[in-house]
Amino acid sequence: MCGIVAYIGKKEAYPILIKGLHRLEYRGYDSAGVALLNEGKLTVYKCKGKVSELEKFTEGKSKAGTIAIGHTRWATHGVPNDVNAHPHYSESKNMVIIHNGIIENYASIKAQLVKSGHTFLSDTDTEVLIHLIENIQLVENVKLGDAVRLALNQVIGAYAIAIMSKTNPDELIVAKKGSPLVIGIGVDEYFVASDATPIVEYTKNVVYLEDEEIAFIPRKGELKIKTIKNRQKTPYIQELEIQLEAIEKGGFPHFMLKEIYEQPRSIKDSMRGRLSASKGAVKLGGIAEYEQKFLNAKRIIFIACGTSWHAGLVGEYLFEDLTRIPVEVEYASEFRYRNPIIYEDDVVIAISQSGETADTLAAIELAKSKGATIIGICNVVGSSIARATHAGSYTHAGPEIGVASTKAFTAQVTVLTLMALHIANLKGTIPSSRFQQLVSEIEAIPEKVEKVLATNDQIKYIAGIYKNATNALYLGRGFTFPVALEGALKLKEISYIHAEGYPAAEMKHGPIALIDEEMPVFVIATKGASYEKVVSNIQEVKARKGKIIAIVTEGDEQVKEMADYTIEIPETDEILVPLVSAIPLQLLSYHIAVMRGCNIDQPRNLAKSVTVE
Ligand code: F6R
Repeated sequence: MCGIVAYIGKKEAYPILIKGLHRLEYRGYDSAGVALLNEGKLTVYKCKGKVSELEKFTEGKSKAGTIAIGHTRWATHGVPNDVNAHPHYSESKNMVIIHNGIIENYASIKAQLVKSGHTFLSDTDTEVLIHLIENIQLVENVKLGDAVRLALNQVIGAYAIAIMSKTNPDELIVAKKGSPLVIGIGVDEYFVASDATPIVEYTKNVVYLEDEEIAFIPRKGELKIKTIKNRQKTPYIQELEIQLEAIEKGGFPHFMLKEIYEQPRSIKDSMRGRLSASKGAVKLGGIAEYEQKFLNAKRIIFIACGTSWHAGLVGEYLFEDLTRIPVEVEYASEFRYRNPIIYEDDVVIAISQSGETADTLAAIELAKSKGATIIGICNVVGSSIARATHAGSYTHAGPEIGVASTKAFTAQVTVLTLMALHIANLKGTIPSSRFQQLVSEIEAIPEKVEKVLATNDQIKYIAGIYKNATNALYLGRGFTFPVALEGALKLKEISYIHAEGYPAAEMKHGPIALIDEEMPVFVIATKGASYEKVVSNIQEVKARKGKIIAIVTEGDEQVKEMADYTIEIPETDEILVPLVSAIPLQLLSYHIAVMRGCNIDQPRNLAKSVTVE
């Protein structure tokens, strides 16, 4: 995880770095630091805590410098404290490094360096890397760039690094493998960051560095790239598509709330140009050349983590129901290590908002090595997962900054629905009347989501009643079972209330023992094939004095009579209910967390982009 940012040019670097670090704080916020190089003097400021703590720490201190590097950390090696914060100095203190990733063989390198007299101040793997680079430079008597290249050939693991040296005051050296790194090209200035958000307000021209590439960034003149095997590369300059407004709060108190409210638009954006109710067609350009692979597939495997895994579960219900292709849904972290059986005619669908999740990326590589076809469903354009897949469809939800995923989930489910519908139509596994009906229904979803958002005050009221709960249960059946899991995850991650999601009928095989008059049970009891069954499950909870908060279809009277509180959502086809029923659960978690005084956009211990396994 971690966010890195760097600048070289004519401007004062510190304000650019601080603004960039705030934008990258979603990647980690255990500690923050900057290093500035000015008139031959290298200064490092770093401390535990968020970027705002760093700002306080640097108040009144000199922050001059037109070349600088900055970091916001999500701790892996070494506890979050001042010493382990980046940047880290080399042995001579002539150079500094910031790093996102993990150097897996750091311990053996460190042992050798200690033997040759190096002393380390921190417990980090990063400090080992900068000592190694300096050691190579001295022992081999090579230029800094060559020392970086030789060192990177020795390390195992993942890195996005930026290095600055007193002896090279007009050059930044950056490199990447496994962790993302973007270089922004301005006029006589360059910007470096983990993603484009710190760069977009200065320039739209960027280069996404590829794995095992090193970039030499001069104060003036052209950027040069070579691989760690010393092969020259021509920088491929792309134009950024994101707009500045998309990464700001736009009047909302939190990014999470803004992103919840964006869903009518983001769902529409994920369908844009792909759906035509009048023509009765679905078009997914990104997978057009791989349709035959879907038609021949004996099996589809979804790989993902967290919320994206929940979207994969919805995908299982959708694909099996509509396309009749057997589906498995796998946690990427389990799949990659359990010697899975993968066939060449498997279609593996990797789902990821960030497109950087290390476990998902590794699972993709494994499936690819066995000859399977890999399709990506990512939000971040140009991300590592998007590039590692054979083909895919972007979700186009726009930047998601709140750590708790909301609009990315509904966008993923939207794309999965379109994909399943399209394949079903090609395979002829659903009658064309059903296809047409679903195409019209899905077009109406943004409006229905809008209607759910209008019930916010009622949801806030319910949140006020259950804000002090210590446990909560979420129940759903069929298409709404994954929504129950997602509702529980949202509550856990931002309000720190223990919550479990269960298939409603499974409750009596254990969790029912937890139910008492203190326990809120959130049930998705919308109209559909399992409605009557869910009604019975609600009775079972009531009989044990549990509190029922039910998400019901507009106009439902039966559940209303039994539940303590109900939240109505507009009626839609059963297979589309996840898109509408997820919204009240997101709002509920949001309000509960606000009332408990929790940090909404940056919940403790979490990071938005999980680039470590
Ligand atoms: C939960 C959440 C995480 C992510 C998970 C996968 O709100 O955000 O569970 O869903 O870390 O991340 P991506 O989708 O970026 O691969």
